[in-house]
Amino acid sequence: MQSLFLSCGGGLESVCQSELEQLGIRNTRSLPGGIRFFGDLKTIYNVNLHSRVGIRLLLKLSEFECQTKTDLLRAVTQVDWKLYMNVSQSFFINAFVDRTHLELRNSQYAAMVVKDGIADRFRKDTGSRPSVDKDHPDIRVLIHVHHNRGTIYLDSSDTPLSKRGYRQGVIHKASMNEALAAGIIKLTEWDGIMPFYDPMCGSGTFPIEAAMIASNYAPGLNRKDFGFMRWKNFDPILWKTVVSNAIKSIRVPNKPLIFGSDIRKDVLHMAIQNARSVPKIGSLIQWTTQPAEDFTPSGEQGVIIMNPPYGIRTGEIEILSNLYAGIGDTLKQRCQEHTAFIFTGNLDLAKKVGLKTSRKIHLRNGGLDCRLLKYDLYSGSRKQKYKNPDD
Ligand SMILES: C[S@@+](CC[C@H](N)C(=O)[O-])C[C@H]1O[C@@H](n2cnc3c(N)ncnc32)[C@H](O)[C@@H]1O
Repeated sequence: MQSLFLSCGGGLESVCQSELEQLGIRNTRSLPGGIRFFGDLKTIYNVNLHSRVGIRLLLKLSEFECQTKTDLLRAVTQVDWKLYMNVSQSFFINAFVDRTHLELRNSQYAAMVVKDGIADRFRKDTGSRPSVDKDHPDIRVLIHVHHNRGTIYLDSSDTPLSKRGYRQGVIHKASMNEALAAGIIKLTEWDGIMPFYDPMCGSGTFPIEAAMIASNYAPGLNRKDFGFMRWKNFDPILWKTVVSNAIKSIRVPNKPLIFGSDIRKDVLHMAIQNARSVPKIGSLIQWTTQPAEDFTPSGEQGVIIMNPPYGIRTGEIEILSNLYAGIGDTLKQRCQEHTAFIFTGNLDLAKKVGLKTSRKIHLRNGGLDCRLLKYDLYSGSRKQKYKNPDD
């Protein structure tokens, strides 16, 4: 059994952990930014293929006291790198070091020390050294130094797991990271059976992720490449078995239950194209061009999620204030008995919705502090609804 760490977005640790537990992984430990657990090669393949919320699955090679550059260099040269890669393969180092570290000073410097350490160890063992490739390395190594503790990892994912491969051609500038969208859907506790609506769907990330969840479609099935495929111990037969088990467990419900709409026809076209890149799930999603203010759910109960624009330029804020107020009116007037969620990075605009939140969850999106706001729109609690969200 090897020590593993699955990184995830800030605020998504709980859903990332339960996802691992559903994969049958026991003794998981939640830490800020990810989950620590133990597993073998099969676990590594399964988690890379099935994790919707995780970003990178890292295999720990060494953990050590790291006060000085010498400590770091010693730890790197103690790793027997030949076990994981050949000298003919390229590598790259991603380093994350506390800014306050007295000697390593910055991440780039630490990355250089690790690179030299790997090269030295190879030269000593084989007489030659592997080359560095920043853009398409065969092997990605990650070094993390926090509170004078250093950890060296091999990155089994390489391209982040959030990149599922279904986004085609031009990418909508406000597209949400797929792992964040999946994590938010898990936080809504949608059961995969009730209708699910996204009336501001942009490039369709929420509807596509929801359709994959409802069908038990493994998020990594469309990817051709994972870091572990270039490790020396890659087992193609085991990988084929893991993939074929995932394909066998796809269960596509037989009626559309996911609804995506957007005010812009060109944007909706992008969403439809993206959904077409995921085999099997297309029939589950119905797409419509319409303003969110005209949205009416088609069922009696369901989950509604909206990710309205946050507005960065001053001129936009007034227009967006009206948009957020309009969303509030729509939810209040036409969405009773539903549970609604708004994901936004602008808390002032969120107040314009004018409905009482039943939960506020802190999340990060691309370095920005965001909130997932929950509204229980039950008719029985109508009296509560007009309270200021910050009461
Ligand atoms: C932040 S983006 C959503 C991004 C989306 N979650 C994704 O992953 O691509 C906001 C979307 O709201 C849409 N929008 C803006 N005003 C709207 C309105 N009144 N009704 C419906 N959609 C609107 C925009 O066209 C844009 O696609």
